[in-house]
Amino acid sequence: MEWVVEAENLTKVYQDVKAVDNLNLHIKEGEIYGLLGPNGAGKTTTILMMLGLTEPTSGKIKVYGYNSTTEPLKVKRVTSYLPENVGFYEDLTAFENLLYLTRLNSIPDKEAEKKIEEVLGIVGLSDVKGREVGTYSKGMKQRLGMAAVLVKSPKLAILDEPTTGIDPEGVEELLALIKKMSREQHITILLSSHLLYQVQRICDRVGILYKGKLQAEGTIEEVGKQIFKDTEDVLEVVLNKEKPEIVEDLKKIEGIREIKVDGPRLRIIEEKDVREPVVRNIINTGLLPLEIKKEGYSLEEIYLKYFQEG
Ligand SMILES: Nc1ncnc2c1ncn2[C@@H]1O[C@H](COP(=O)(O)OP(=O)(O)OP(=O)(O)O)[C@@H](O)[C@H]1O
Ligand SMILES: [Mg+2]
Repeated sequence: MEWVVEAENLTKVYQDVKAVDNLNLHIKEGEIYGLLGPNGAGKTTTILMMLGLTEPTSGKIKVYGYNSTTEPLKVKRVTSYLPENVGFYEDLTAFENLLYLTRLNSIPDKEAEKKIEEVLGIVGLSDVKGREVGTYSKGMKQRLGMAAVLVKSPKLAILDEPTTGIDPEGVEELLALIKKMSREQHITILLSSHLLYQVQRICDRVGILYKGKLQAEGTIEEVGKQIFKDTEDVLEVVLNKEKPEIVEDLKKIEGIREIKVDGPRLRIIEEKDVREPVVRNIINTGLLPLEIKKEGYSLEEIYLKYFQEG
């Protein structure tokens, strides 16, 4: 499989700080990949190396097979980058700002104008395209940032902390827009954020970056398993009435290590998935399982372990 982004033992040392430490990460075509980690984790540094804007101390990084360090122009041609603090000319309109960008990218005006209208429509700014950007809200500016990303018709969009500083409603809109960009324009998206709760919903896969190291990579669920592989799997069952004797019966099920009883509530520590035999057993004894919940490795735990300071 050819990866859209592939980092191999990527390391960046600034004076005495190891900003990125032996990173291996892989992004697939068409996915929304969340590079998530608290402040100072190394997200922006990774992105800058990906774009060839800063050199790795060791290791390498490729985008669509191009080496970012030695072939940055080729990387630039297929990538759009929205920096952490994007700036626009406040005294120009949205349309003029985008035209300025397309000219920088040597897109002929006629073609550019059509494209600009199209992307302003996608991000919902058509009605205000003639207004000076200085009059825009933060959320509108962020949407204009998305338009700036789209106007280059990239294969890969790199968005560094796109939701920072926007109100909750604006965040919802922006995340929906990112998802739409991914699904309708078929753009692969790398999005960095220190706001785990906020952005993980729209990510197909995430990489958890902490102190420059990738702690785990995959869907949120897979990531939880990788991080908490040594912790126990717990199944919580609430019965329709208290019946402590049931424990003796349940304990005969293979794969159950221990059961703790708290009134009608059972906490079953399992060695493998025992949901089916447990439910069957409970029903056979004339009781009902009113609630059954697998305590997976929750977002909460990932958050507590890495993101609290972020
Ligand atoms: N130009 C630089 N010179 C020296 N140290 C740097 C430089 N850029 C980043 N660092 C350090 O490298 C580490 C990683 O920084 P980076 O900006 O990549 O983190 P981040 O995950 O993007 O954080 P944030 O969420 O705050 O944007 C930090 O300790 C930071 O202080
Ligand atoms: Mg950053």
